[in-house]
Amino acid sequence: MDWGMKNRLSRIIRPSDGRTVMLAVDHGYFLGPTTGLEEPRKTIEPLLPYADTLMLTRGVLRRCVDPSMDVPVVLRVSGGTSVLKDDLSDEGLTVSMNDAIRLNVAGVALSIFVGAANERQTLLAMADLIDEAEECGIPVVAVTAVGKDMVRDARYLGLACRIAAELGAHIVKTYYCEDFEKVVRACPVPVVIAGGKKIAEKDALELSYNAVKRGAVGVDMGRNIFQSENPVAMIKAVREVVHNNATPEKAYDLFKTLSARKQQKKKTA
Ligand code: 5RP
Repeated sequence: MDWGMKNRLSRIIRPSDGRTVMLAVDHGYFLGPTTGLEEPRKTIEPLLPYADTLMLTRGVLRRCVDPSMDVPVVLRVSGGTSVLKDDLSDEGLTVSMNDAIRLNVAGVALSIFVGAANERQTLLAMADLIDEAEECGIPVVAVTAVGKDMVRDARYLGLACRIAAELGAHIVKTYYCEDFEKVVRACPVPVVIAGGKKIAEKDALELSYNAVKRGAVGVDMGRNIFQSENPVAMIKAVREVVHNNATPEKAYDLFKTLSARKQQKKKTA
């Protein structure tokens, strides 16, 4: 592995503890102005100081993020469909490697749809992307198991993650499931979990805790942070779990304390 690739990987996954809190705000690429991301700049700015990595599209990066910020970017480079379609798997590459380099990204991300109608198309797109990215020393994050009909169990997620790793992805993003350790064990590259649909803060912290305990290097979380009643408190609580091995109870206490403090400040303002 060359220096540039290693350097970029170490910007995505913190070498001090081998963990990462990636903030995912790329949802608009097929969901449009989804709840919490109607005005991306307003959502992203207060969260930036607590994100190890920012995952988003080039349009939002260019228009809604200050270029002087120093959080490494993982750029979403796949798309081509929308939530209005029944089959979300009809994706292709949407960004050239030249543009990714121009945007000074630490990594690129695309979705693969194992088991879906367009499985082959998305897997071959990933293989092409990896060939190009390897030449430039840019890690590829494979996003697995997005879609309405996917059964997210260890067998399916294990299959999708392993295929991504076998084809050369440098990091795999997947969902937490029962027997998650089996998914991680069979995947020879680092695994991060998505948070999925918004759930109670305590449950999202438990999900994060279980994932890192069972071998994930961290989270690439979106809705459970930016749709929280207090997104900054939530990302700080997630950090406690991922970087300091806090129990879900301890992290939730932190979330409640920070939320109460914010409430108090609002009252006295
Ligand atoms: C969508 C994505 C999102 O980044 C991913 O789903 C993470 O966000 P969330 O925690 O909201 O699930 O890749 O395709």
